[in-house]
Amino acid sequence: MRLLSVFTILLLLSSCATLCRGFNITKILAEHSEFSTFNHYLSATHLANEINRRRTITVLVVSNGGMGPLLSRGLSLPTMRHVLSLHVLVDYFGARKLHQLSGDSTQASTFFQASGNAPGTSGFVNISMHKGGVVSFAPSDSDSDTYTPASFVKSICEEPYNISVIQISTILDSPVAEAPAEAPSAVNITELMAAKGCKTFADLLLSTGDAAKTFQDDIDGGLTVFCPLDQAMDDFLPKFKNLTDAGKLNVLLYHAIPVYYSMQMLRSNNGVMNTLATEKKNYNLTVQNDGEVVTIKTPAGVVAKIVGTIKDDDPLALYTIDKVLEPRELFKKEVPPPAPAPAPVVAEAPKKAGKGKKHVPAQAPEPAPGPDQEPADQKAADENRAVMMGAGSLAMMTAVVGMLVSLMF
Ligand SMILES: *[C@@H]1O[C@H](CO)[C@@H](O)[C@H](O)[C@H]1NC(C)=O
Ligand SMILES: *[C@@H]1O[C@H](CO)[C@@H](O)[C@H](O)[C@H]1NC(C)=O
Ligand SMILES: *[C@@H]1O[C@H](CO)[C@@H](O)[C@H](O)[C@H]1NC(C)=O
Ligand SMILES: *[C@@H]1O[C@H](CO)[C@@H](O)[C@H](O)[C@H]1NC(C)=O
Ligand SMILES: *[C@@H]1O[C@H](CO)[C@@H](O)[C@H](O)[C@H]1NC(C)=O
Ligand SMILES: *[C@@H]1O[C@H](CO)[C@@H](O)[C@H](O)[C@H]1NC(C)=O
Repeated sequence: MRLLSVFTILLLLSSCATLCRGFNITKILAEHSEFSTFNHYLSATHLANEINRRRTITVLVVSNGGMGPLLSRGLSLPTMRHVLSLHVLVDYFGARKLHQLSGDSTQASTFFQASGNAPGTSGFVNISMHKGGVVSFAPSDSDSDTYTPASFVKSICEEPYNISVIQISTILDSPVAEAPAEAPSAVNITELMAAKGCKTFADLLLSTGDAAKTFQDDIDGGLTVFCPLDQAMDDFLPKFKNLTDAGKLNVLLYHAIPVYYSMQMLRSNNGVMNTLATEKKNYNLTVQNDGEVVTIKTPAGVVAKIVGTIKDDDPLALYTIDKVLEPRELFKKEVPPPAPAPAPVVAEAPKKAGKGKKHVPAQAPEPAPGPDQEPADQKAADENRAVMMGAGSLAMMTAVVGMLVSLMF
């Protein structure tokens, strides 16, 4: 028992490991050839981009050998994306935090859970601390009697509290994540919307010209849809019925952007955006954010808030909003404009409504926070750690362990 505890302390100290250099998971893993397969699939499934855009994240990686059983299943790339997204925890778990769970367990949400593809209560990972300092990881919906959890192997690098990269012993096996993922264009958008509180909007898409088909056809090239919830649509229906056929179609097409934007991308890509209704310089809207809250503002004065995610899976994002977006071209301005805001970045997407493939607009450059932009206290903490891990660290570690051991015996 005592020996095991000493082992825990050693593990703890040795896992006060390397700082992550920069914020690029591809680059971080490229320095460790034993994770080249995992790294390859993070890029191939576009999860690497999503990881790099986030803060407060933990990536559970598996060695090339550990990837073998998964690869032998011959999963498609969209399915592989689901499996790997179960290995990205949307919280920070450094080796220290993990080993302080002592006797306890915690549940972490994952990219898979956040994508809207995980049914029911799946998509969470249970992290448990066992006797002897073993930390284990298991999908929360696995059968705890028969499932062999993956265990903590080592910390690859940490950058508290932004990113932690941790090696675990095996892939997290999850039948739900491994269920064949539909090709994006095979997803029935209107069915998804109807199931998540946007039935009125979905029904209008199906009954108005080729609106539903236009949305459906645009998925492969990237599509973000803002679906007004049924309550909002009910108030709007009288106005909608008053529109011409062309007007009806345009107000529906106005609710979609021909580009895939994850929530994180919307937060960092504020500005004027073209919609599926845009022909030239019309039918645009403005994406804004106030902290975590993202709003869509129309030139007619409507400000709708994103209140939920129906699906967020590159190349398709479906969000619910609390108001119908009324384009200036069809509706009078309702509210006087607020004080002029700084000129927003214009995302250009020249296209004809509903026809042809679109050019993906150049994204506004995101600020790429470098290691120099840490807050002072964190910087100090990191420097302390850097000192600790410096040349004299072995001697220091030995001394600390010696001290702790003598305290225990
Ligand atoms: C991350 O690193 C890879 C490999 O060095 C590079 O190809 C990619 O462009 C980088 N991504 C970002 C966002 O810097
Ligand atoms: C994961 O944790 C939840 C909540 O604590 C629990 O209900 C569930 O049974 C756990 N699953 C496993 C596989 O241990
Ligand atoms: C989606 O489902 C609706 C109703 O369930 C159906 O009318 C429509 O044709 C479907 N669309 C596609 C593209 O399969
Ligand atoms: C419908 O249009 C008529 C004529 O343009 C207008 O008087 C009426 O207020 C409109 N109704 C709604 C609900 O917008
Ligand atoms: C956006 O649309 C408004 C009219 O609704 C127009 O006046 C403005 O020029 C458009 N802006 C851009 C950048 O296309
Ligand atoms: C870590 O995240 C904080 C905010 O969560 C941010 O201020 C800081 O710049 C980040 N550090 C790095 C190195 O990205």
